Amino acid sequence: MPAKIIVIANQKGGVGKTTTAVSISHALALRDRRILLIDFDPQGQCAVSLAVNPEPGVFNALVNTRSDIHQWIRDTSRQGLDLIPGDRTTATAQIVINAENRPIDCIYQICRPLSKEYDFIIFDTAPSVGGIQERAIFAANLLLIPTATEFLSMDGLAQMIELLTTLRNNSSWDGELLGILPTFYDEHTTESSKSLGDLREGFGDSVLSPVHRATVLRECAAEGKTIFETAPASRASQEYEELGRIVIKRS
Ligand SMILES: Nc1ncnc2c1ncn2[C@@H]1O[C@H](COP(=O)(O)OP(=O)(O)OP(=O)(O)O)[C@@H](O)[C@H]1O
Ligand SMILES: [Mg+2]
Repeated sequence: MPAKIIVIANQKGGVGKTTTAVSISHALALRDRRILLIDFDPQGQCAVSLAVNPEPGVFNALVNTRSDIHQWIRDTSRQGLDLIPGDRTTATAQIVINAENRPIDCIYQICRPLSKEYDFIIFDTAPSVGGIQERAIFAANLLLIPTATEFLSMDGLAQMIELLTTLRNNSSWDGELLGILPTFYDEHTTESSKSLGDLREGFGDSVLSPVHRATVLRECAAEGKTIFETAPASRASQEYEELGRIVIKRS
């Protein structure tokens, strides 16, 4: 079966995209799936979170489409989990893609040679809409939108849903919404529970079980370790493990 591509996106910053991308990648690898994580964000946080050198990054694969993509793949020292890191040069790749008006399927084409080698290819994306986001979503089978359970969280979400509808209507994109993932959830605050209620009212079954606010998620990323390495018995670890299970069920 060809690799399923999952894109994690929300143009709102700091909503847990990278944490989710890294955590589900490792969750799936721990379930014996072959995973390639590709970081399309110039901030390069996936490499930091996995303690891998960020250079050379995905820039090369994006700009020089004739290069063999395999040379940019890095081993993360974790069984079944590979990474193509991002770094600040990805911002230049974005400019090139827009200036050359690259086709909407250009990222899909770049990933095609990897389709038989992995079970899942996971994309982390930057908190913005540029040339890369649309092309990354177009390449994907499933879109996951982390959304912080805070006031104004619906803002970024509405834009994401709009982008999804545009891609469906104006191109041949046939991917699906895997779900909206509420993050930073804290049932003790009215802000959190109200915004989860609003999400469920607005998006019904598309809203997945929330990931709670957990300091350990912040700490493990800073140490270059995943939640499964730092705190395998934690609630955060169980929540991301459950998300991995949902991904397998939907694929
Ligand atoms: N559930 C959580 N509880 C506590 N801290 C979290 C949680 N999820 C993520 N964090 C922390 O919050 C910060 C932002 O998370 P993250 O980098 O995953 O968001 P992002 O959407 O990728 O941000 P950006 O838009 O800048 O790429 C990080 O320091 C991360 O460790
Ligand atoms: Mg990020």
